[in-house]
Amino acid sequence: MSTESQQNTKRVTTRRLQEMRDEGDPIVCLTAYDFLTARLLDDAGIDLILVGDSVSNVFQGNPTTLPVTLDEMIYHTKAVSRIVRRSMVITDLPFMSYQVTTEEAFRSAGRVMKETLAHGVKVEGGQRAAKVVEKISGEGIPIMGHIGLMPQSILKFGGYRPRGTSENEADAIIQDALALEEAGAFAIVLEKIPATLGKRITETVSIPTIGIGAGPSCSGQILVTHDMLGLFEDFRPRFVRRYAALADEMDRAFREYIQDVKSGNFPNESESY
Ligand code: KIV
Repeated sequence: MSTESQQNTKRVTTRRLQEMRDEGDPIVCLTAYDFLTARLLDDAGIDLILVGDSVSNVFQGNPTTLPVTLDEMIYHTKAVSRIVRRSMVITDLPFMSYQVTTEEAFRSAGRVMKETLAHGVKVEGGQRAAKVVEKISGEGIPIMGHIGLMPQSILKFGGYRPRGTSENEADAIIQDALALEEAGAFAIVLEKIPATLGKRITETVSIPTIGIGAGPSCSGQILVTHDMLGLFEDFRPRFVRRYAALADEMDRAFREYIQDVKSGNFPNESESY
């Protein structure tokens, strides 16, 4: 990006996201954990970049999001936010960095804001996280909620089946959304719930809803970048649309390189000094 266009770039803020929601302009979000991906997302015009705790799965190779630490989230957020000019950067507070006490939650959010250039944080939980959201938001830190399927609770759920498919569960998720709005969340991620419930919640709350497997009526959509690029292939939920097949392309490149080195075809004269 040129210096001139950097100067003309208007940062996406919580206010801008609310305007987009009110105007019916879909909010486009993806994840990043490194500087190169973040720069590509920002240059392409992604509105919100999430430094998600999915880094635990698709970067660290863990089976769940539980092992990633606050220090590691801060490390990745620094790499992302130092390059981003326009997108809003939000960081997931990882498991056990906000559940024990409200004070600890605020301290964790404060560390993210103080040590990185992130613009806010995200926590999982609805009614149970409302006090934490109220404290963090009340202290001036933008905070997003995340309800429906919550990956930090996956061992309790016992699997990745959609949430909110029964009337009782759907009602509880609507109450969660209302509790987050009331507590001061600026937006809510809705993960893996029926499209009809995604629509109901979006029509019930007045803040933006960001869907991942929550149907087309949400105020915006998010995917894990490694999934939509076809880089992470261990797990393929129905809501992931693949926009590239990068794992196949990387495999082809690695095999071609091996062949070229083994056969003496690399390096050639123009690649030598
Ligand atoms: O960690 C993550 O990437 C997320 C998205 C799936 C919303 O929370």
